[in-house]
Amino acid sequence: MNQDQLKQAVARAAIDYIAPKLEKDSILGIGTGSTANFFIDMLGELKDDFAAAVASSDASAERLKGLGIEVLDLNEVSELVAYVDGADESNAQLALIKGGGAALTREKIVRAVAREFVCIADESKWVKVLGEFPLPVEVIPMARSYVARELVKLGGDPVYREGVMTDNGNVILDVHNLSITDPKDLELRINQITGVVANGLFAHKGADVLLLGRSDGVETIK
Ligand code: 5RP
Repeated sequence: MNQDQLKQAVARAAIDYIAPKLEKDSILGIGTGSTANFFIDMLGELKDDFAAAVASSDASAERLKGLGIEVLDLNEVSELVAYVDGADESNAQLALIKGGGAALTREKIVRAVAREFVCIADESKWVKVLGEFPLPVEVIPMARSYVARELVKLGGDPVYREGVMTDNGNVILDVHNLSITDPKDLELRINQITGVVANGLFAHKGADVLLLGRSDGVETIK
C-alpha cells in the first residue's frame, strides 16, 4: 500500500471507531491535512448521525460545508464528542508533533475541548523520539526574530516558513534538529517565550487513541 492508501485506511478505521459514539446532538471536532481530508470525505456517510462539526482550519470548514455538514464556531459549543486529526509524528506515549499544515493553534484549541482525541496517521509518522520532523511554532509576526533567538537557546535551528500566514494572521517558525526526549517540558518552555502563540507539541494533551496505518492493517494504540 502506498501512503495515500494507508491514510485512507486509517480514515476508514476512524469512521468505524467514531460511528458508535455519535448521537443526534453530538458535535465533532475535525482536523486539518491530507489524512483529515480523507476522513472528512468519508464523514459525509454519517452526516445524519450527528449535529454539526467544529473545524481546526478554514480549509477543513469549507470541505465539511461542501458535504452539507454544518460547521459551528467553537464558542457556541461546550463539548466535542471527539476530535479526529492527523499528526506529523507520534511517539509511543501518543505525544505528537503537529502543525505541518500550519493549523496547530486551532488544532490545540479544538483538541482541548474534545472528550477524546482520535489521531489518524500512516506508519511513517511513528517515531521513537520526536523531533526529526521540524517542530512548528506559531509566532506573532513582530516577535519572529526574538522568538527565533530564544529557540536557538533551547538547542533548535528555527527556519521561517516563508510565504505562509496562519488562519490567525501569524507566522510559523519550523524548528529543526531537536531531539525531543521530554516533550512535556519542551512544550511548556516554548510556550513561555513571549510572542509564541502555540507550538506543535501535543504532549500535555496528546492523542487518546492512535489509529496507525501499517501495510498489514490498522493498529489501534491507546
Ligand atoms: C496540520 C497538521 C496535520 O495533521 C499534519 O501536518 C499531518 O498532515 P497529513 O495528514 O497531511 O500528513 O497538524 O497542521
